[in-house]
Amino acid sequence: MGNCPYFYSNFSTRVLQNGGQCGRLGGDMKFLITAGPTREALDPVRYLTNRSSGRMGYALAGAARHEGHEVILISGPTTLDVPAGVDFIPVESAQQMYDAVRDMVKYADAAILCAAVADYRPVAVQEQKIKKSGERLVIELEKTPDILGSMRDVFGFTGTLVGFAAETQNVEEYAQDKLRRKKCDMIVANDVSRHDIGFDSRENEVTLVYPDHVEYLEKDTKEHIALHIIEHATLIRHA
Ligand code: PMT
Repeated sequence: MGNCPYFYSNFSTRVLQNGGQCGRLGGDMKFLITAGPTREALDPVRYLTNRSSGRMGYALAGAARHEGHEVILISGPTTLDVPAGVDFIPVESAQQMYDAVRDMVKYADAAILCAAVADYRPVAVQEQKIKKSGERLVIELEKTPDILGSMRDVFGFTGTLVGFAAETQNVEEYAQDKLRRKKCDMIVANDVSRHDIGFDSRENEVTLVYPDHVEYLEKDTKEHIALHIIEHATLIRHA
């Protein structure tokens, strides 16, 4: 029991009934999960990215698998090991992540978009390494495709849709707005102005924002937070 990274004594009676062993516990859903950062190329050796380690998304994939569900994990570059038994699609850019999600979403009945996708990318990717010249360099950026915003209206996804919201202020209010605009069933909101949670940390503290109520999950490891999120997504599906 002690070796299972997803064992959580107060969480799942199914885990307890199973003697606390990791393994398939009868989950019947197919989860599509995005994770990690994207890289938006400037030239052959440089890119724009962010501080996402991928831990939250990989924890979600591991938790869903632990609960017995099938999982497709679409991830930007990270240094993490892919959880056992998970179908894995590595990508680099926002466009590649968009294409992978578009192609795979038909196989999913729940999607959790946890990736920290770049909102902007360079308009032009230089073929050769940009040479140092002048005191300033101006780079023109354009919007990347909005994956979460495409799920319902462009990809026609009708399953359970969970988005994340990485905010530094008005966390709950912005998450409510995102929930409505992106037609999600739930938004997992985290305060990324804090260094002890969110980006590149082992723990998180989140607010689960529903259309009619919110639920606060106190600070805990990303593995434990992930188990709660998977349980909530499962309940939405079976409501
Ligand atoms: O990877 P870790 O180090 O463990 O850190 C975890 C995390 C902080 C990255 C994670 O908890 C988190 O907050 N993920 C969402 C990060 C983000 O980009 O949030 P956002 O508020 O900018 O985006 C809102 C939603 O739209 C997200 O579901 C995002 O995946 C999605 N999005 C954003 C831009 C885009 N072009 N397409 C998208 O689908």
